[in-house]
Amino acid sequence: MQTHEIRERFINHFVKAGHTEVPSASLILDDPNLLFVNAGMVPFKPYFLGEQNPPFPNGTATSIQKCVRTLDIEEVGITTRHNTFFQMAGNFSFGQYFKEGAISNAWSLLTNSVADGGFGLDPERLWVTVYLDDDEAAAIWHEKIGIPEERIQRLGMADNYWSMGIPGPCGPCSEIYYDRGEAYGEFGGPVVDDTRYIELWNLVFMQNERGEGTGKDSFEIVGPLPKKNIDTGMGVERVACILQGVENVYETDLLAPVITVAEQLTGATYGRSETLAKAGDTTSAAYHAAHTEDIRFRVIADHCRTGLMLILDGVTPGNEGRGYILRRLLRRIIRSARLLGATGVTMEKLMDTVRATMTPSYPEIADNWERIRAVAVGEETAFLKTLESGTRLFEDAAAKVKASAGTILDGDAAFTLHDTHGFPIDLTVEMAAESGLTVDTEAFDARMAEQKARAKADNRAKKHAHADVSVYRPFVDNHATVFLGYGATETEGRILGLVAGGALVDRAGEGSKVQVILDQTPFYAESGGQLADRGTISGPGGVAAVEDVQKTGKKVWLHNVTVTGGELAVGDTVTATVDHTWRHQARQAHSGTHLIHAALRQVLGPTAVQAGSMNRPGYLRFDFSYGEQLTADQLRRIELIANEAVDTDYTVNTIETSLDEAKAMGAMALFGENYGTQVRVVEIGGPFSMELCGGIHVSHSSQIGPVTVLGESSVGSGVRRIEAYTGVDSFRFLADQHRVSSALSSRFRVPVEEVPERVESISARLHEMEKRITQFRTAELSAKVGDYVMRAATVGDLRVVAARVPDGISGGDLRTLANEAKGRVGSEPAVAFFISADPESGKVPFIAAATDAAVALGVSAGEIVKAVAPYVGGRGGGKPAMAQGSGSDAAGIDAAVAAVRGIVEQSVAG
Ligand code: SER
Repeated sequence: MQTHEIRERFINHFVKAGHTEVPSASLILDDPNLLFVNAGMVPFKPYFLGEQNPPFPNGTATSIQKCVRTLDIEEVGITTRHNTFFQMAGNFSFGQYFKEGAISNAWSLLTNSVADGGFGLDPERLWVTVYLDDDEAAAIWHEKIGIPEERIQRLGMADNYWSMGIPGPCGPCSEIYYDRGEAYGEFGGPVVDDTRYIELWNLVFMQNERGEGTGKDSFEIVGPLPKKNIDTGMGVERVACILQGVENVYETDLLAPVITVAEQLTGATYGRSETLAKAGDTTSAAYHAAHTEDIRFRVIADHCRTGLMLILDGVTPGNEGRGYILRRLLRRIIRSARLLGATGVTMEKLMDTVRATMTPSYPEIADNWERIRAVAVGEETAFLKTLESGTRLFEDAAAKVKASAGTILDGDAAFTLHDTHGFPIDLTVEMAAESGLTVDTEAFDARMAEQKARAKADNRAKKHAHADVSVYRPFVDNHATVFLGYGATETEGRILGLVAGGALVDRAGEGSKVQVILDQTPFYAESGGQLADRGTISGPGGVAAVEDVQKTGKKVWLHNVTVTGGELAVGDTVTATVDHTWRHQARQAHSGTHLIHAALRQVLGPTAVQAGSMNRPGYLRFDFSYGEQLTADQLRRIELIANEAVDTDYTVNTIETSLDEAKAMGAMALFGENYGTQVRVVEIGGPFSMELCGGIHVSHSSQIGPVTVLGESSVGSGVRRIEAYTGVDSFRFLADQHRVSSALSSRFRVPVEEVPERVESISARLHEMEKRITQFRTAELSAKVGDYVMRAATVGDLRVVAARVPDGISGGDLRTLANEAKGRVGSEPAVAFFISADPESGKVPFIAAATDAAVALGVSAGEIVKAVAPYVGGRGGGKPAMAQGSGSDAAGIDAAVAAVRGIVEQSVAG
């Protein structure tokens, strides 16, 4: 059964049972604690916690969620059941059915015949686990479903108590395993062998809330959730592996074609270790080599798919966070392909294969293909360059080891290659082996462990910095803030709560910084790139300045204020006033961002996808994925289109509608947007710009005022940034520029538009002058050389020229002078020493030169320079024929000059 069909059967089964089908959320959700969505329940978290009411008619839902787990990238391909990207099929009950419903629903889908819409698995092969004391679940499995007691096993918290690994909903769980038969391992159920018994489905009885803690089994349980819920997750890939009768999750219909293409690109053959193992060989060197190759094939298949799905959801390769994970995955593909024998590029063909297998389930890949391809191929090109420079570095390090007759490349060198050049350790090891060396991998591992420990400590520090959010919980549950700011900038409200230092307080006096929770507010809380409003809250007893506003639980506005006079108290009726200018300019900037976005898509096409934005009064920046630098002409056109839209005075409309309708209208939905609820579409001039957006906007585009693009830059691989001013800030900027250009115009006495040409011609003339000065100076110096040579002292037949030349002569000019002097004396034995002082930099450059005949007598320019350097507090060195140095103490120049003759005498005598 193909994966696509497994997905369909799952959804049909649960839709028939009354569940609402919910599309997969993006892999990137707006949760700072999660790098990627890693379980089917993540988008439903607010419903489990009771922060929001589930918008599903029967209080139940089903989805097939895209998931990425990248904790154990190194394990991929070694174990045979872990994909970094996988699809989690789930059914969810929010306070509706509980253990019995979850168990019987899962059982019927797994064991119903294929003709009946099920997966047709043999019930005799299914085993289950339950949490240690969960007698209720065990009884349902045994009595209602009929599983014999010996196939129901009990496991502790680490295995059968599920949480997200961070504070959130949690509960005991029951897992369903499939016995793959004795060829795969020991008999005895999942507690004995979890390769033979492969986990297919996890049923979580979500009933508690967990607090801080570490690992899977040491965290605090804060208390029960408002309701008892169900969260289940069935691994689509694992079911596919069983139903397709393949060895592992890398060989299903979705990934096997990638392995085949990898075979063609590398010339290696997949599956040789399996063949050897079947013939009884699991220990020979040939087996190990084949096994390593098979792992590499699986890495390629797995990472290609994860890479493609991450790029689809807007991730671009970078050096931290999500971007870094993507980069690592892509680089591991390239490296694995090379180690398997590929010599050229491989990325495009591999990705194209994933495109073909994944598009039936994710048709949006087709629309985004060009962008996905460009990002993946771009990373390959960059990494191949890194490999080139890393290889040079490696060769230097290897040559050094060999020069000292060593055989071991030290751990530090390997670590540097890995850490600063992104050079993977196994490649270093492999290349070392090729040059007859080994790598001190223990020292390398130790360095890696140090680095990991540092990163962990950083992470922990960050986690502990989180405020305890339980203080807001009663407000989130019972007092969602009513936001009135779309229509008003000043409203009355009541203070429902004050939070200082993470705890509730009754009142806050002058000078204190507190968070104010109101029943209703006109203040916009920071979101969607728009900064929060500023303004004041004033009550009967005092007044406070609002410095920031953030949302908690998506429902409660926290006004961060400083009390500037008197005091605020819970229960006060207050007037909340948004600073008028702030709000006006914030609206201009946010609407300006939409204009820039629309203009950008017109000029660059739909592959330029928004990657982030920020706007504050008068200023905006807009990040988007695009592989190349924008040309001046593209920027000019974007700016022109935006300003023409201002000038057209479009009406700005906001429409509340469903996500589907918004998409049908052609509104641009961004990744990271939550679904399932009503959405707000902001439309500027109908088709000109239509975006899902909760921000605050002008009502007519002319109110935005001029939009001035400041420029464009790169913010990491594949992401560009445009910055612009709006409204009066735009005017101020233009006026400043105008003042500067007017000043230049009157200074150069040309019209403004001719200033660049004028500056160009002046700097060309300046350059010409500098060249001529240098020529004069050299001519003057060479004229002087005659004098110096004439005044030379002699040591036997040897002429010794030693002179202080005029101040300000550079090291380069000294060299010209020395060469000139050598030229004058021809083949005679002679030595020249020149020294100068540069009063500006305080430097004292000097040089010595000896003719071949002088060198033959034992004179060395290098020795002279070394011996003289201490007189002027400097250093120097070079060859016997020519040497240079530089000092910093001009007071020693005369002594240095005087010393030369003695030094030469000694060399000749020696
Ligand atoms: N949340 C559970 C899991 O991820 C079941 O969906 O395993």
